[in-house]
Amino acid sequence: MRTQVGIIGSGPAGLLLARLLHHQGIDTVILESRSREYVAGRIRAGVIEQGMADLLREAGAGERMDREGLIHAGINIAFDERLERIDFPRHTNGKVVMIYGQTEITHDLMKAHIDEAACIVHYESPAMRVEGFDTETPRIVYEQHGEQKELVCDFVAGCDGFHGIARKSIPADKIKTFQRTYPFGWLGILSDVPPVREELIYANHERGFALCSMRSHTRSRYYIQCEIDDKVENWSDDAFWDELRRRLPPEAAENVTPGPRLEMGITPLHSFVAEPLRFGRLFLAGDAGHIVPPTGAKGLNLAASDIYYLSRALIAFYKEHRTDLLDRYSDAALRRVWKAVRFSWWYTSLLHRLDGDPLSRRLQISEMDYLTGSEAGRTVLAENYVGLPYEKFE
Ligand code: FAD
Ligand code: DHB
Repeated sequence: MRTQVGIIGSGPAGLLLARLLHHQGIDTVILESRSREYVAGRIRAGVIEQGMADLLREAGAGERMDREGLIHAGINIAFDERLERIDFPRHTNGKVVMIYGQTEITHDLMKAHIDEAACIVHYESPAMRVEGFDTETPRIVYEQHGEQKELVCDFVAGCDGFHGIARKSIPADKIKTFQRTYPFGWLGILSDVPPVREELIYANHERGFALCSMRSHTRSRYYIQCEIDDKVENWSDDAFWDELRRRLPPEAAENVTPGPRLEMGITPLHSFVAEPLRFGRLFLAGDAGHIVPPTGAKGLNLAASDIYYLSRALIAFYKEHRTDLLDRYSDAALRRVWKAVRFSWWYTSLLHRLDGDPLSRRLQISEMDYLTGSEAGRTVLAENYVGLPYEKFE
């Protein structure tokens, strides 16, 4: 089998890239190790920056988001008994974020790409390795129905997430990695109950971090900091709701409506960056190249900004025979990645119970008091949260 751009992974990064290239008449084949139902059912992120929302529109998959997504013009930060609102438009020249689940985005991209445009995604076809990425005809070796096959490409996009094989196909002396694992996790619940408040609440409590988010006016998403080795089996629905209430200021706690779980899961927290993101004709994008702790809601949005740069570089190659943007991809994508890695690390450190040391907590409270009491502090938080601008890339 042969294609122009072979894409490994049909998460948001792979699907978005395939859509943007298809609009320019560039052929792709996506190889995905899981089934379509499994990929469609994964519950993950929920906050979309404007840059990503614009890319989804460009990809022809933004219509339902624009109809059903919730526009949020601020977030709330809770500490001690205080609740402070950060106003985004005021501090960022009018920017806002969109609340729209990754599950819905994946659904919309699949519908546009597979059901409407009849483009090719091979599910249950795990890639095993990438060969010849330093030649003009890189190949993806993959498995399908128990047989080993080969996809020959002009370029390979490794969009196969943190545990994928694209990054692992690179010899160790050609790649540098940076990583940290945080000593706690997040326990998340999804439930068909109305949200506590119209906008998200990020709470620093001495018992640990809590986040009140949502998917709609009738579906809530909550997270609480948990032990790194905690298990979902340790938590009844009632225990979750009780612990969430304890960590919120009274005016928010009173408004928690408990309900049965649609889903409950534990997420570990990591920072990870691979450098560079380009190896000859193999490009890494999204979680395949970097991971952030979820506190700043940046993981999904970084996958989109990588695809912004990569799609433009590939389009310039096919339309104008230019290779300069392919050469600049890794540096441009990584500049934005590192800023989000820094923000996510800082925001995580500000909001979580770190070591139980009273001095650490007093320093956090003092920093939040400073941030919310200063226009400059509020601007720092707002402009990072809504998403730093994409670099001009043409
Ligand atoms: P993925 O979505 O991971 O997609 C990669 C795809 O590649 C998958 O479909 C996988 O099955 C496939 N694949 C893997 N290996 C192979 C192979 N060998 N061959 C073929 N296919 C392969 N971000 C936030 O901003 N907020 C959150 O609340 C949040 N919660 C998260 C919770 C969890 C449990 C996880 C894992 C991530 C979470 N994230 C969150 C991060 C966000 O979901 C990711 O950053 C985003 O999914 C990245 O998209 P991606 O397309 O790069 O990778
Ligand atoms: C959600 C997840 C996040 O990590 C975050 O910072 C905000 C919202 C969510 O799943 O809704």
